[in-house]
Amino acid sequence: MSNPSLLILAGDGIGPEVMTEVRKIIDWYGAKRDVTFDVSEGLVGGCSYDAHGTPLTDETMARAQEVDAVLLGAVGGPKYDNLDFSVKPERGLLRLRKEMDLYANLRPAQCFDALADFSSLKKDVVAGLDIMIVRELTSGIYFGEPRGIIKEGNERVGINTQRYTESEIARVARSAFELARKRGNKVCSMEKANVMESGILWRDVVTEVHQAEYSDVELSHMYADAGAMQLCRWPKQFDVIVTDNLFGDLLSDAAAMLTGSLGMLPSASLGAPMENGRPKALYEPVHGSAPDIAGQGKANPIACILSFAMALRYSFDMGTEADRLEKAVEDVLADGLRTADLLGEEGVSPVSTSEMGDAIVAKLEASL
Ligand code: IPM
Ligand code: MG
Repeated sequence: MSNPSLLILAGDGIGPEVMTEVRKIIDWYGAKRDVTFDVSEGLVGGCSYDAHGTPLTDETMARAQEVDAVLLGAVGGPKYDNLDFSVKPERGLLRLRKEMDLYANLRPAQCFDALADFSSLKKDVVAGLDIMIVRELTSGIYFGEPRGIIKEGNERVGINTQRYTESEIARVARSAFELARKRGNKVCSMEKANVMESGILWRDVVTEVHQAEYSDVELSHMYADAGAMQLCRWPKQFDVIVTDNLFGDLLSDAAAMLTGSLGMLPSASLGAPMENGRPKALYEPVHGSAPDIAGQGKANPIACILSFAMALRYSFDMGTEADRLEKAVEDVLADGLRTADLLGEEGVSPVSTSEMGDAIVAKLEASL
């Protein structure tokens, strides 16, 4: 059998430097666990625009469709702020999500014991927090038509459309219920059925899927604004949250910050199974390209490394190896290692991006 294939799209800003650390981890698995990946690289975002005049070339898009998993760093930066909307770095990422049909975006918000003090919330509210937001990623107001800025009389009107089909809602609901069964067996679905028809349909379809296929899972519904409030009040009431594209964008950033460390959180975007049974998949950190610290060795590579752990778990069925990598991350944090984003403790000086990567590799080595 041929090796599993990975396409690395490091992107812009801190993307390339955090991805360098992921490469160390991938190399370690090849050398020590006999898990060898065929790795290829490509451009996405601003760097692709600089080289080719587009944030994603057709060749790279085609390559992404062929590989077993895509690992993405981050896209964007102030240099590209004034580009036309159609070639902005973000469009490259959105094209990947849409054309690979990665409808289920898994965003865990987990609070590492060693970091509970970094949250803006009280320690007992966040210690031990482990929730999973499942965000619908390929439809809703991000992609709905009509859209645009039109002229009406003598003023401009900006238009976006929230649109969901039953099947789009049902498939992401199934992803959430399946995940819940492997975790705390609870799903909370969030929409605004009080003001939006798409929210009424969302609630109906989630309820139907639940009754027909997942009645063993505990299901609740919340308006998304109340959900945001509950996330800040007592986040540990949640296990899996399933929500639409835009609410998921907002709620997942809020949930990420609860953990006190946006630089730590990975994500997986999954689509339908390919011929080999693996889901179409793209893995990326939740954080952005952080242009203000790019190239200075200050970035925290952990979110990107944990995204690779998610790839091991969800694309390659290597749960034990994913556990090993997650444990290695916990261990370096427990030892007190901190990148610059995690400072604030007395007497701690930061380690660099590559020192953090090396320390995680050393923990992997020690796990053998
Ligand atoms: C995210 C980001 C993206 C989004 C941007 C970069 C297009 O905020 O992945 O959450 O809005 O989905
Ligand atoms: Mg976002």
